[in-house]
Amino acid sequence: MPIHTTSDGWVLETQATGYALGLNQAGLLVHRYWGPRLLDPDDYPRAPDSAGWASFNNPAQLTPEEYPGYEDMKFVEPCLKVTFGDGVRDVVLRFAGAEVHEADGPELRIQLRDQAYPFRLTLHYRVHAAYDLIERWVTATNDGDTPLQIERIWSAQWHLPPGDAYRLSHLTGRHMNEFSLRREPLTHGVKVLESRRITTSHHHSPWFAVDRGHADEDAGEVWFGALAWSGNWKLAAEVTDFGSTRVNLGLNDWDFAWRLAPGESFVAPSSYSGYSYEGFGGASRRLHDFVRDTLLPHGKTLHKVLYNSWEATEFDVDEPSQIHLAELAAALGVELFVMDDGWFHGRNHDRAGLGDWWPDARKFPNGLQPLIDRVNALGMEFGIWIEPEMVNPDSDLYRAHPDWVIHFPTRARTEGRNQLILNVARADVQEYLIEKLDRLLSDHNIAFIKWDMNRNVSEPGWPDAPSDPRELWVRYVQGLYHIWGTLRERHPQVIWQSCSGGGGRADLAILRLADQIWVSDNTEPATRLGIQEGFSQLFPANTMEAWVTDMGASYLSPAFRFHVSMCGVLGIGGHLARWSAAQRTEAARWIALYKEIRPIVQLGDCYRLRSPQMHPYSALQYVSKDRAEGVLFVFRTHLQGPAVLPPIYLRGLDPDARYEVEGIPGARSGRAWMHAGLSIPLNDFASSARRIRRAAG
Ligand code: DGJ
Repeated sequence: MPIHTTSDGWVLETQATGYALGLNQAGLLVHRYWGPRLLDPDDYPRAPDSAGWASFNNPAQLTPEEYPGYEDMKFVEPCLKVTFGDGVRDVVLRFAGAEVHEADGPELRIQLRDQAYPFRLTLHYRVHAAYDLIERWVTATNDGDTPLQIERIWSAQWHLPPGDAYRLSHLTGRHMNEFSLRREPLTHGVKVLESRRITTSHHHSPWFAVDRGHADEDAGEVWFGALAWSGNWKLAAEVTDFGSTRVNLGLNDWDFAWRLAPGESFVAPSSYSGYSYEGFGGASRRLHDFVRDTLLPHGKTLHKVLYNSWEATEFDVDEPSQIHLAELAAALGVELFVMDDGWFHGRNHDRAGLGDWWPDARKFPNGLQPLIDRVNALGMEFGIWIEPEMVNPDSDLYRAHPDWVIHFPTRARTEGRNQLILNVARADVQEYLIEKLDRLLSDHNIAFIKWDMNRNVSEPGWPDAPSDPRELWVRYVQGLYHIWGTLRERHPQVIWQSCSGGGGRADLAILRLADQIWVSDNTEPATRLGIQEGFSQLFPANTMEAWVTDMGASYLSPAFRFHVSMCGVLGIGGHLARWSAAQRTEAARWIALYKEIRPIVQLGDCYRLRSPQMHPYSALQYVSKDRAEGVLFVFRTHLQGPAVLPPIYLRGLDPDARYEVEGIPGARSGRAWMHAGLSIPLNDFASSARRIRRAAG
C-alpha cells in the first residue's frame, strides 16, 4: 500500500522511495524523511520537534514545515502569503484532518485551517509509485463571507535531508540556445529561478535536480522535481543557517495577486518530485516514463517523420510551391507534411496577418483543400502552423478589437516581432479563437498542429478585469489551457506540438495538451546536440521534434546532421528543392533507418553516456524496454589532435545476455560492453550510429 497512516503521521511509498511527514509535539505539520524506501513504516524518523535559537529565532524559523505560511517569527521562504479582509497579513494554519483516497492516485489530503479566519488549505499528495514520484499541489478555500487576497501560493516546499552541502542542477538559456545544464553549489541564502514572461520561458526551466555534489549519470542520490505550469513560475532553493535545505516550486508571486471571494477555491498547479539513487540518468528516466505513460495525450504513439516548410520557404508559401515540396518530401519517405507560417490571410511577412486564421486567398485561391488532397494522395498526413495568442496590429482582428490585447490604456503598446498578445484570459477572446480554429480543423483533414508563441509580455494590463488585474498571469494560462483543451476534446486525433520560438513553452503541463515540443529554433547540429541533452534531463525523446535543415550543411556531413535529429523525433526542414538527387537518395536511406530504430529511440530508456555540453566527443544510447535492442549514437565535434578517444561504456543491457554491436565483430556479454567498453574512432565532425542487438541463444 503506497500510503501508510502511522501513529505519528503518514508514510508515502513508491517502488523504491519513501516520503514521511507528520505532526510534531507543537501540532505543526512537519517533514520527516525523503529518500530510499525503508523496510517498515515504523523505520521512518519521528516528526522533529520545534526548537528556537536565542531571541532572534522562534521555533517557527527552525521547524521543517511541509507547507509554511507567513506567520510568527518566520523568515524562511513561506509557501503562502495572504491578506485578510480586515488587513491582517499573516496566516496561522493548523492541522484539521487527513484523508487517504486510495482510488484517486492514491492521494493523501491534509486539511489545514487558519486559527482565526474561515480559511482552509488542502495539501494534496498523490503517489505515482511506479515512477518514484510524488505529486503535490494545494487548494485554498475561503469559507467566510468576505473576500481575501492571496499574494503567494506555491505548490510545494520540498525538504532535502538535513544538511547544507548540496548542489543544484538546473537549465538555463535563451532563444536559439535553450536548456544549458548548470551545476552549482547551493550556499546559504535563496537561489531563485523564475519566469516573469507569461510563458515558461527559454531562460530557465521549472525543473531541478539536487545532489550532494558527487552524483553522476549512473549513480548517486538525486532529488529532482518539476512544476507543471506554462506561465510565470518560481523556484526558490533556500539553505538556512540551521542546516536545512529546501526547494520551493510554484506560481511566481512577482506582480501576482488573487482575490478569493467567499465560497471560492484556488487550485495551485502540480509539482512532481522524486528521488533516484541511480544518478541524474535515473532521475531523467523516471520522468521520461512518467511523461510518456501518464501525461501525453497520445501516450506512446510513435511519431511520424515530418517535413516542415519554415526554413525552406518562410512566408513565401502558396499552393504550387508547397505541393512541389510535398512531392519531394513524400519521395524521401516523409509521413507528415507540415505547412508552417505564411498561409493565412494577409501573411506575406511578419508585419501582418496574425489573428486572421483563414487561408490567404491570393496564395490559396481554392482554399487549403487542393494542397491537403495532394498531400494525402502522396500518402502523407497534413499539418499546419498557428500562433493563436498573437495579433498583428495590421490584421482584421485587431482593427475590429483593439481592446482585446494585453495593455495599459495610458501606455504605448510595445510590439515584439510586430505583434501584440491577445488577452486569452478574456472569455470573448477564447470564444473567437475556439470558433476560428475549430472551423479550420472541422473543415480540413488536419492531423497535426504546431502551436507557436513568438514574444513575451509587456504592459501586463487588463483594463476590464472582473477582479484584480494581476490575476492576468494565472488567468491567461488557464485561458490558454481552456482553448487548447476544448480544441483537443473536439479533435482528439490531432497531434499538437508546443513551440514558442523554439523551446519557450516546454513544461509538464503543456505536455497534457501537446505530444511534442519544438526544442529550439537553432537547428545547427553541433550546437543542437547540447540543447537536446539539456532537454533530455526532463523530457523523453518522443516529445523532442528534431529537424535536419540546411544549417551546418556546408561543414557537416549528412550523416552527422541526420544522426543528431535521429536522437529524437526525426523531421526534415531543409529546402528540398535545392537538395541534389544524391542528397535526396541519402536522406531517404537515413529516414528508412530511422523508421526501424524509432521505437527504441522514442519509447526506450535513454542513457547519456558522454555529455556534449562537456565533451567534444559525446555519446547517447537508447535501449528498448525489454533490453533486447539498442542504438548508440557517438559524435565528435572539434577535438584538438592528436586526440586519444576514451572508450564508450554502454548502459542498460542485461549483464548476462550476449549482444552484438553493429560494426564490431563478435557477440559479448552485456557486462562486457558495459564495463570493458568499446572504441568508436571518429575524426572531427564525424558521427556514428550503431545498432545493438541481443544475440540469439
Ligand atoms: C518560430 C518557430 O520556432 C519557427 O519554427 C517558425 O514556426 C516561426 N516561428 C514561424 O514564424
